[in-house]
Amino acid sequence: MNFKEIKKYWDDRASTDSTAQSTTQDVYLREIECNVLSERINKYKPRSVADMGCGDGRTTIKLSQKYLSSLFSGYDYSSHMISNANDLISTMSIHNLKFEQQDVCEKLTQYFDLIYTTRCLINLPSWDLQRDAIKNIHKALNKNGLYLMIENFIDGHENFNQVRKDFGLPEIGMRDHNNFFNRKELLDFISGYFSVVEEVNISSTYYLVSRVIYSKICSEKNLNIDYFNDHHRYAAGLPFSGEFGPVRLICLKKL
Ligand SMILES: C[S@@+](CC[C@H](N)C(=O)[O-])C[C@H]1O[C@@H](n2cnc3c(N)ncnc32)[C@H](O)[C@@H]1O
Repeated sequence: MNFKEIKKYWDDRASTDSTAQSTTQDVYLREIECNVLSERINKYKPRSVADMGCGDGRTTIKLSQKYLSSLFSGYDYSSHMISNANDLISTMSIHNLKFEQQDVCEKLTQYFDLIYTTRCLINLPSWDLQRDAIKNIHKALNKNGLYLMIENFIDGHENFNQVRKDFGLPEIGMRDHNNFFNRKELLDFISGYFSVVEEVNISSTYYLVSRVIYSKICSEKNLNIDYFNDHHRYAAGLPFSGEFGPVRLICLKKL
């Protein structure tokens, strides 16, 4: 899919689904991401935080409610996502959060202590656009600012598919609107802009339980995958270990 088609995909999803699953079916994966971000926000205490590609803002809302002394901005290029996010906060009294329409490939007009993305840049159809977005994020950070990049990587994706194969399960392919990162290519590129503070695969144990063990049980018992199943719920609480899932956190400090 090209850039326009992907944007339409997200607009359509937002206008037809305003539930917790409008940006991902896998709500427990988003819970893991939110916890990972929360620990870092608690540690670094940024005054200003931007969520690029915030979708309907569920993660942004949770974090802004927890860290009242930080100012949060949620950005998404989909006007429908932003409208759903604004609907969600319309009945809450939150004073440290705003949502605005913004394309991560276009220059940001504000500066932040911390910027994060959760599975946003994987929706950019080329490495050129992904690099533009990372350069924009770098420019929009204050001195010593942090970029918490939570995105999908081919490396971990291939690893868990190998385990699925060993269990007699079919490969899970990359969705048409996704373009996963190559870790080495990314690290080579960002070394001119950021230093790596921390790197952890946050989806490995979760994927082994949800995409291998639970999938195998479903396949043997002829059951449909249910993303709210207890395997997902409990797996989300396991410690991080291994390289068997696509989603990793790379915590980057602006050079
Ligand atoms: C997989 S969803 C994740 C949403 C949210 N981060 C979450 O964790 O629930 C990807 C989001 O990125 C947004 N997105 C994709 N490309 C973007 C771009 N170029 N600029 C801003 N937002 C973008 C989509 O509209 C969508 O809401």
